[in-house]
Amino acid sequence: MPTSTKLPTVSATRYVTPLREGGSLPGLMEGSDDGLYVVKFRAAGQGTLALAAEVIAAELARSIGIPVPRTVLIDVDPAIGAAEPDPEIQELILASPGLNLGSDFLPGARSYSPAEEWRPAAEAAAAIVWLDAFLTNVDRSARNPNLLVWHDELWAIDHGAALFRQHSGLAVEQAELPFAQLAEHVLLDAAGSIEVAGQRAAAMLDSSTLERAVDAVPQEWFGENVSAGYVEYLGARLARSPEFSREAEVARGD
Ligand SMILES: Nc1ncnc2c1ncn2[C@@H]1O[C@H](COP(=O)(O)OP(=O)(O)O)[C@@H](O)[C@H]1O
Ligand SMILES: [Mg+2]
Repeated sequence: MPTSTKLPTVSATRYVTPLREGGSLPGLMEGSDDGLYVVKFRAAGQGTLALAAEVIAAELARSIGIPVPRTVLIDVDPAIGAAEPDPEIQELILASPGLNLGSDFLPGARSYSPAEEWRPAAEAAAAIVWLDAFLTNVDRSARNPNLLVWHDELWAIDHGAALFRQHSGLAVEQAELPFAQLAEHVLLDAAGSIEVAGQRAAAMLDSSTLERAVDAVPQEWFGENVSAGYVEYLGARLARSPEFSREAEVARGD
């Protein structure tokens, strides 16, 4: 058995401010380690499967060299919510005792827009397109890129909508289904060869990398789903990299 990469746990010490752009009402929180974290709460509408997808996607992104903010588990004492004047936020914190998801806040990062002049490196963009095809991430469109530019690089955030088939159990056969939504991907124009990116990425992933990524998720976030099923699904999906990479090239007209 590989050693588990269980994520570090940090206690939340203060709720700083909500980040209202997104739908899941993430909040900025201070941690007991003096870090500042973007926290996604278990009680948010997307549910804990979205948090599981966030963890798995961030771990796998890191494994293939895509910049993603460091991930931690944030232990939230609901007493922190009692002091919140906004009833919606108070309710969310009160309903989310225990472990929640924290991502390192990237100070000064800006949201990426395909309309801006700055362009990501073609290889870096292709790696992100490949990851999103691998993980069936529906949330990287021009309208909602979920990409930050920081230190002149693209940072991938918000993977709660990845692995969307987990909501219907994530059966291994689903790994073979085409992923038509990839045609909406915000980086298709900027990306270099997705097939080359796929060959590179696949060489950096094996069954123990997949297992470690799934193992990093707190068991309770899987709900009724079985974590072993995720490892099996991801293995089957990875084996299809040549097929879905080709589909991605076709989606942009190559
Ligand atoms: N690690 C981070 N560092 C800085 N800003 C962030 C970070 N994560 C998220 N944000 C900001 O918060 C917004 C909402 O976060 P996101 O993860 O996209 O949540 P949602 O699920 O609500 O869309 C982002 O669009 C971005 O502006
Ligand atoms: Mg978002």
